[in-house]
Amino acid sequence: MASPPDIAVFDGDAVLAAVSPSEAIDRVRNGFVEYASGAWSMPPKVYLEVPNGDFRAMPARGGGIAILKWATSFTDNPVRGLPVVQGLICVSDEASGSVLALVDVRSVTALRTGAVAAVAAQELAREDARTVGIVGCGLHGRWAARCLAAAEYGPGICFDPSPEAAGSLAGELGWEAGTREDALDCDIVTCVTPGREPIVRAGEVHHGTHLTMLGADGPGKAEAEMEVVQSARLFCDEWLQASHGGELTGALEAGRISREQVTELGAVLTGAAPGRTSDNEITLFDSTGLAIQDVAVCLAVLEAAEAGIVKPGRACL
Ligand SMILES: NC(=O)c1ccc[n+]([C@@H]2O[C@H](COP(=O)([O-])OP(=O)(O)OC[C@H]3O[C@@H](n4cnc5c(N)ncnc54)[C@H](O)[C@@H]3O)[C@@H](O)[C@H]2O)c1
Repeated sequence: MASPPDIAVFDGDAVLAAVSPSEAIDRVRNGFVEYASGAWSMPPKVYLEVPNGDFRAMPARGGGIAILKWATSFTDNPVRGLPVVQGLICVSDEASGSVLALVDVRSVTALRTGAVAAVAAQELAREDARTVGIVGCGLHGRWAARCLAAAEYGPGICFDPSPEAAGSLAGELGWEAGTREDALDCDIVTCVTPGREPIVRAGEVHHGTHLTMLGADGPGKAEAEMEVVQSARLFCDEWLQASHGGELTGALEAGRISREQVTELGAVLTGAAPGRTSDNEITLFDSTGLAIQDVAVCLAVLEAAEAGIVKPGRACL
């Protein structure tokens, strides 16, 4: 029997050393374009519900690799001193099927989730949009803010029920901590809460605002009241996923919005569909999180290792 292959292991530090927020934004943008043009593929993610939340199995292929991401969303975990998202990504060579790498899931998820917030703002916010409101300054709120700052948005207002969370993010970026209302007054509002209750209510959003909703990434979650969804021009990362477990699901099931009203981000990026059509309208992007975003960041990690920028650990199974 041939000796078992040597597998590269990238921990969180290696991933973050390999891929900057700016690089993640470019990679994730490209991933959406490749997926929209049919070059990359991705079956729907599978949710396995358990008492503490859910596990997700997320396969996708693109750029010569195929991945399986196995990750949690256990939103009560921070109370127990544990992260919401835990797991790993198995990266295989698409041609040979050989396992190439095991990659830390938290850092890849944080980078690709933050990156899509920046891509959505670049495509859907008003041309003159600058200020950023972050509602929810936990792990993914921090990375969304870092990526928006890397895309030269700001200054921003950070709101979180935890003053420490809001204050430390604001301090890091030279932004300010403020109230939820202050954050909602900004040009680009990014919501990254556990999604258990609406934190954007009817009548609170100004004309011309861009909203990115990141927290509602599974069944039963929502961060905005249905009236807010109904009042906006709607965009999502992927319709099948967003219609079943995202910010749009409640309004869709209540018959307040229809499929025809929702445009996928990839269609805007490839020019197949328009994005914002006036400075006055509210745009709302529903991010449920796609495995193609993870493919995009994993490719950047592998290339950084090939270029000698980071040195992975090795495992032999
Ligand atoms: N769309 C995606 O691709 C994607 C990716 C990763 C995580 N998520 C989701 O994002 C959410 C947040 O994940 P996380 O890892 O950042 O969690 P986290 O626990 O690190 O952060 C959540 C933050 O929200 C704050 N918060 C709670 N209630 C709030 C409220 N009413 N108003 C404002 N802030 C409030 C908490 O204090 C905390 O700081 C989860 O629902 C997770 O499943 C989505």
